[in-house]
Amino acid sequence: MPTPQELLELLRRVKYPGFNRDIVSFGMVRDIQLGSRSVTVELSTTSENAEALEAIRREIAALVHDATDLAVEIVVETTRPAAPPRPASRPKPPIPGVGAIVAIASGKGGVGKSTVATNVACALATKGLRTGLLDADAYGPSVSAMLGVGGDQPLREGRRIIPVERYGVRAISMGMFLGERSPVIWRGPMVTKLITEFFRNVVWGELDYLILDLPPGTGDAQLAVAQQVPLAGGVVVTTPQDVALLDVRRGITMFEQLQAPVLGVIENMSYHLCGGCGARAEIFGHGGGEKMARQFGVPFLGEIPLVRAIRAAGDAGTPIVVSDPAHPQSRVFAEIAGAVDAQVCERAAGIVTH
Ligand SMILES: Nc1ncnc2c1ncn2[C@@H]1O[C@H](COP(=O)(O)OP(=O)(O)OP(=O)(O)O)[C@@H](O)[C@H]1O
Ligand SMILES: [Mg+2]
Repeated sequence: MPTPQELLELLRRVKYPGFNRDIVSFGMVRDIQLGSRSVTVELSTTSENAEALEAIRREIAALVHDATDLAVEIVVETTRPAAPPRPASRPKPPIPGVGAIVAIASGKGGVGKSTVATNVACALATKGLRTGLLDADAYGPSVSAMLGVGGDQPLREGRRIIPVERYGVRAISMGMFLGERSPVIWRGPMVTKLITEFFRNVVWGELDYLILDLPPGTGDAQLAVAQQVPLAGGVVVTTPQDVALLDVRRGITMFEQLQAPVLGVIENMSYHLCGGCGARAEIFGHGGGEKMARQFGVPFLGEIPLVRAIRAAGDAGTPIVVSDPAHPQSRVFAEIAGAVDAQVCERAAGIVTH
């Protein structure tokens, strides 16, 4: 008779369909109960993919039965991912003078949202578009550092805040108010206050685009955005690791709930490009972002490799599209900015209806 631990090891052979990763490492196996004549395997999933679940059930049943000769019962508990924020049903007032508001989001932290947001904002500005960048991340603001304006306190116009302009982009970030190393210990309602302040009390002037750099996941910041402004669209950033890819669904669902079109998915840190020899290494297996985009029927906006120059430029406060516009990755950011702009214009003109 095997032990539950041995059965758990056995279940490591069951891969999640479409992923090169097993169901145990995904945390799907909740419990294994061993009776004298039967085994009960309890699975927990957030996926609504019935086909994948059925394949997993079949594989577990066959595998466990072959190994134990016991009857196999599989119980599946489907937990819905944390409910994404629901938009308020009343019409949301636009920000006077501000055109399209585009949010950059991700399910998982650290995938490069802020890097994408600052580079795309700078690339839009380079194209001659009037662009603002709002750092909606109260706890981990990075826009001010990435634009090299960390110490610049924004000027005031009466009670209103004047955004700091850098590289043609008008930006506002909590980082400008606290200094880079101050911990932000605000709780939820303060996040909402901050975002309200940034939307309503900043002198944005006339803008073609206001890019929002969102914190990861779905929380107070996303809810505040949803309730306060109409979004022209959202961009989901992912990395090629399986765990990040699973979060793409959450990102896309979130924008659906916000009633904002998903302008596309970007795969960042897609593969490693050696700065010295130019060798390419697909550390996490690249291409998943494109596959996910196809699966959800949303555009794939491009892939950005992991290159030292991108991080170094961000750390130095000069995004790569500004410091080295001819760099191949700067061109990719420019193309992504172009694709975002084209989609927003097409949607505004009613050409794209989905
Ligand atoms: N393509 C890339 N190549 C090299 N470094 C990168 C790349 N993209 C992002 N980075 C670096 O990875 C780190 C995390 O990126 P970034 O801050 O943009 O992620 P984020 O998704 O905004 O994180 P958070 O969820 O904490 O807000 C930064 O140091 C950034 O410079
Ligand atoms: Mg960030």
